[in-house]
Amino acid sequence: MAKQQHFGGSWTDEKLERLRKYLHAYTKIFAKNIKAQYFTTVYVDAFAGTGYRSKASPTSQQPVILEELAAADNQEFLKGSARIALEVEPPFKRYIFVEKNPSYAAELQKLKTEFSTKDIMIVEEDANVFLQNWCAKTDWKRHRAVVFLDPYGMEVEWKTIESIARTKAIDLWLLFPLGVAVNRLLTRGRKPDPAYKRALDRMFGTEEWEQAFYSLQTKRTLFGEDQATVKDADFDTIEKFFIERLQSVFVAVAENPLPLLNSTNVPLYLLCFAAGNPKGAEIAVKIANYILTR
Ligand SMILES: C[S@@+](CC[C@H](N)C(=O)[O-])C[C@H]1O[C@@H](n2cnc3c(N)ncnc32)[C@H](O)[C@@H]1O
Repeated sequence: MAKQQHFGGSWTDEKLERLRKYLHAYTKIFAKNIKAQYFTTVYVDAFAGTGYRSKASPTSQQPVILEELAAADNQEFLKGSARIALEVEPPFKRYIFVEKNPSYAAELQKLKTEFSTKDIMIVEEDANVFLQNWCAKTDWKRHRAVVFLDPYGMEVEWKTIESIARTKAIDLWLLFPLGVAVNRLLTRGRKPDPAYKRALDRMFGTEEWEQAFYSLQTKRTLFGEDQATVKDADFDTIEKFFIERLQSVFVAVAENPLPLLNSTNVPLYLLCFAAGNPKGAEIAVKIANYILTR
């Protein structure tokens, strides 16, 4: 049997089911509409994994970044996002699967045999590097795409999101690492250390999060008044900030991202959607809003 990934819990099923629904709606629209048939539709899975997920909980073989992930619910042996996309009917015209891990990329290669009639490209590369180049060099007069970004943590650079938005031809599904990473890097009682700050700057593409998430408060001490840095941000503040960042570059953004919760109802990620094409954005966000509503 193919190598399986051991990652995620029932929130993973929620995420992938939403993605599957959107991909189906998307390809149906393109298949039905004569004008839309002019475009080559592309599905890009830039953190593609192996194509499979397994029943087991995360193991030491996996880059389990936080204890929430290790505590995630056991799950059935299931399809990963790449395989789900390949099974969507009507199909996309092209599939691009990007995966940095060589052994996972080798597993993805096997999908080419199984889905031999499909146009599949496997790219063993860093997702940010690939996407920024691919967005810049593709002829967007002839192509339309859905990009799925499903990182473990804060791997997605803001520059990549900007490149995607700039095409005005891509619909983006993105897992924002709200609880697994961002909230944890936002230390209480003081601003994040330089390494954390750099990671947050790189992901948000701005330093404005510092003002949005922290304030200076005056406290009375035995010796008089003292100023202290306080973290004001909660999950809602962080969500709002990130959605506004997406709105600053995309034509339209779903304002109801889906929180993906662990077994104790702590949000691990937010499943976000943004539409890039001015003509298609209204209907795209309408469909995404519906899919994101529990
Ligand atoms: C959460 S898993 C993806 C799961 C997959 N979407 C699925 O449904 O089966 C994240 C994947 O991204 C890969 N990865 C991590 N950092 C990456 C990067 N910078 N570029 C490309 N792939 C990366 C990891 O090796 C891992 O397979």
